[in-house]
Amino acid sequence: MSEEMKRLESECAACSRCALGTTRTNLVFGVGKVPSELMFVGEGPGEQEDLQGEPFVGPAGKLLDDMLEMIGLDRSRVYIGNTVKCRPPMNRDPEDGELRACRPWLDGQFALVRPKIVVCLGRIAASQLIRPDFRITREHGQWFEKNGVRYMAIYHPSALLRDLSKRPETFEDLRELRAVLRRETQIYQS
Ligand code: URA
Repeated sequence: MSEEMKRLESECAACSRCALGTTRTNLVFGVGKVPSELMFVGEGPGEQEDLQGEPFVGPAGKLLDDMLEMIGLDRSRVYIGNTVKCRPPMNRDPEDGELRACRPWLDGQFALVRPKIVVCLGRIAASQLIRPDFRITREHGQWFEKNGVRYMAIYHPSALLRDLSKRPETFEDLRELRAVLRRETQIYQS
C-alpha cells in the first residue's frame, strides 16, 4: 500500500465525524493495490471485518473472492473499500449522516487509487456513487460514466448468499465486467 494511503488511513483512524467510531472494534479502511485500474466499493464492515480490520473477510468476502477468481483476478490486483469504514451496530444499514460524514475518506481513497472502473457492491454503494435513487434490481450490470470513470453495480455478495436466484444475473454482469477490463485496461497484463 502506498505511503499516502497509509497516512490517509491513520488520519481516518482518528475520525470523529460520526458516532460509528465509538462502537467499532477496528477501523476497516480498505485493502489492495494502489493505484489500481479496478476498485470495488461495498457498504460497510460486518462482524468479521470489524474484528479483523479488513474488508470482506466474512462469508460475503469468501464469495467476493470467488467472484474475483471467476474474472481471473484476486484481491492483490484490485482495491476494495466500503462506503463507511466503521461497523454500524447490529449490521444495520449506514444512515445518511454517516454516509455523508465518511464520504471524504472514500473520495481520498479514489484520489489515490485512481480507478478506471468502479464496481459498486449493492444498492447502498451504488446510491452513493452512481445515483441516489439507484435501483439495483433494474440497473445492475449497466455502465454509468462520470468524469471519465466507468461505474457498474452488481448485487451485494450478502444478497447473493441469501438469494441464489440472483447468481446467474451476476455471472452475466461479471462476464461483461471482464470483457470491458480486457478491452479497456491493462489489468490482465500487470
Ligand atoms: N459487507 C460489506 O459491504 N463490506 C464489507 O467489508 C463486508 C461485508
